[in-house]
Amino acid sequence: MDDNQEQNDLSRDEETLLDQLGIVGAARRKFLGQSMAALLGTFAFHLLAKEEAFATLAAAPEAVFAPAPGVENAVKVLLKINGSTQRLEVDSRMALLDTLRETLGLTGTKKGCDQGQCGACTVIVDGRRVLSCLTLAASCEGKEVTTIEGLADGDNLHPMQAAFIKHDGFQCGYCTPGQICSAVALLQEAKNGDASHVTNNLRTSTQNLSLSDEEIRERMSGNICRCGAYPGIVAAVREVQSGRETAHTWHFASDEEIAVALNEEGKADAIV
Ligand code: FES
Ligand code: FES
Repeated sequence: MDDNQEQNDLSRDEETLLDQLGIVGAARRKFLGQSMAALLGTFAFHLLAKEEAFATLAAAPEAVFAPAPGVENAVKVLLKINGSTQRLEVDSRMALLDTLRETLGLTGTKKGCDQGQCGACTVIVDGRRVLSCLTLAASCEGKEVTTIEGLADGDNLHPMQAAFIKHDGFQCGYCTPGQICSAVALLQEAKNGDASHVTNNLRTSTQNLSLSDEEIRERMSGNICRCGAYPGIVAAVREVQSGRETAHTWHFASDEEIAVALNEEGKADAIV
C-alpha cells in the first residue's frame, strides 16, 4: 500500500487518530496491513458461522433420502417362487435378487458383484438361468422362479446338489447356489440342443446333446468361483449330464482312520 492509496483509504478522523497515536510512515502501513488481515479473518469467521447456521437449517441427509413409509414406486407382481404363489408389492426399480433376499428372506441366492459379472445370483426363471441382480422383479410378472431353496424335494437333494457334494465342487460355498442353479438350467439347454460358443457345428441342430468337458466349462463360464473349485464342478455337471456315475473319490474319515493317520505321524497322544 503506498502513501497516496493510504490517504484515499483513510478518513480524516482516522488519519488524525493514527497521528495522535504516533503511528506514521512504515509503522502505519504495517498497522493498516494487520488491520486488513484481521478484518478478512473476521469476515471469514462470519461466513463460516453463517454456513453452519444454514447447515443446521437444512434437512439431515437421511431425512431427504430415507424411503417414505411403505414402498416407493410400488408395483404389484404375481410370482411363483419355488412352487408357491407370491403376491408382492415391490419398488419398480427393485432387482429380483434383492426381492428374493430382502423381501422374501430367500438368502440362498447370493450377491457377489451386483453387476452381472460373477454369476453368484443365478436363479432359474421359466426354465432359463438368469442373473437376478440384473433382472427387475417387476419384469417377472406371472413367471416361475426357482432358487437354490427350491431344488431339493424335501430331504432328497436334487441330483446336481448331490453331485456337487460327491465331487467336492465347492470350498467356501459362496458361489455354489449360483453354480448349481446354472448347472441345472444347463441340463435343459443340452436337452434342447442349444448351441454354445464352442459348439462345433451350428448347422446341425441336435437335441439331447452329450456335453464334453470343454462344452461344460464354456457353458459354466459365467459362474466365477474364487476358490477355484472348477475341477469338481465340471466333474459334477459331467456326471449328471451324462448319467454315467463315476467313483466317489473321497469320504469322511472314520475315527479309526484318523487314529491311524495320527499314529503314523507319531501324534497318537494328540487324540482326545
Ligand atoms: S451378483 Fe449377479 S452376477 Fe454377480
Ligand atoms: S466355492 Fe468359494 S467361491 Fe466358489
